[in-house]
Amino acid sequence: MAYYRQVGEVPQKRHTQFRDPEGRLYYEELMGEEGFSSDSSLLYHRGVPSAIASAETWELPDQTRMPNHPLKPRHLRLHTLETGADPVTSRRLVLGNADVRISYVVTGGAENGPSPLYRNAIGDECVFVESGSGTVETVFGVLSYRSGDYVVIPRATTHRWAPAEPSRLYAIEANSHIAPPKRYLSRYGQLLEHAPYSERDLHGPSAVHLTEGTDVEVLVKHRVGGQVVGTRFTYATHPFDVVGWDGCLYPYTFNLDDYMPITGKVHQPPPVHQVFEGHNFVVCNFLPRKVDYHPLAVPVPYYHSNVDSDEVMFYVAGDYEARKGSGIGLGSISLHPGGHAHGPQPEAIEASLGAEYFEESAVMVDTFAPLELGEGGLACEDPEYAWSWARSVASGTIDR
Ligand SMILES: [Fe+2]
Repeated sequence: MAYYRQVGEVPQKRHTQFRDPEGRLYYEELMGEEGFSSDSSLLYHRGVPSAIASAETWELPDQTRMPNHPLKPRHLRLHTLETGADPVTSRRLVLGNADVRISYVVTGGAENGPSPLYRNAIGDECVFVESGSGTVETVFGVLSYRSGDYVVIPRATTHRWAPAEPSRLYAIEANSHIAPPKRYLSRYGQLLEHAPYSERDLHGPSAVHLTEGTDVEVLVKHRVGGQVVGTRFTYATHPFDVVGWDGCLYPYTFNLDDYMPITGKVHQPPPVHQVFEGHNFVVCNFLPRKVDYHPLAVPVPYYHSNVDSDEVMFYVAGDYEARKGSGIGLGSISLHPGGHAHGPQPEAIEASLGAEYFEESAVMVDTFAPLELGEGGLACEDPEYAWSWARSVASGTIDR
């Protein structure tokens, strides 16, 4: 993200001597993307950031995936999924492919303490906070989070979650970087006037978070071949020893309330609702908004075949009584795979005519490669969903 930020103390010139009050040198670390060819930050550590004393295997939760075969639209009821309380190690894999994985966890509250220190070396994480609040402590400083936040954590950022209250976390873990869509950005990286949000809406750390410690464990998620695996490092000193940093690479939050929906005279396609993009996937959100104002507009979507993508809708707020007949409710995921046309229950089209406002909130992930089901997804599937259009049992179902 080409949006410069400076926190704590940094030397006047990069790569020059920078000492503490006792005269000891700080250790400068560059965290940079795409080799040395993209966004980066410079961090100044009290300890040596590469000083590990041990490396052991960290056994991840079940990462196996089952292909969506025979091909079906799927309805997964995340609120029926039981998880352990830890924001990092208790995530259950719901959906995934070689580009992105979606996991879900319902954390404990403050009494459970923070998660282990953790970083994802596979890609950026965009964790959507369905509900709850707390902080995410990072090597860059502390982020506060609340319901409706996307917490975007760059690849290899050491951090830990500290929920203040039980939190429902929908973790979108990329194998790549996650950023605003390129079409929202000027050629130098500023968010343009037509973007539905601006830099003011992105909240990064505002102070360093110095923590003392020795022999500190950090869990690292990484790849071996095509597999997702984990390693448990022990560091000689605490990774949260950064006295200052500056640059354009850092974690931040963005809240749904700060997204200004783009509306139209007739139905607008999902790209107007886009928030972020990663390699081979996008993140969109459908939020409360005025709907189409052409006198003959059909507010609900047309049937659509996403020939190049699988579409994952996560229904997070609003009145979903209107979806009776499909079984979709709050906490539901619908997976509409490529190769299958989907859209409203037929009765919903007439029922929507004249509507002026939609109340629903949903977060969508579209992937350009087929998604497979994780063990968590299979554990909470409603097996009847695929046949709901054929049954056409009720009116008013609205699907994006
Ligand atoms: Fe759709």
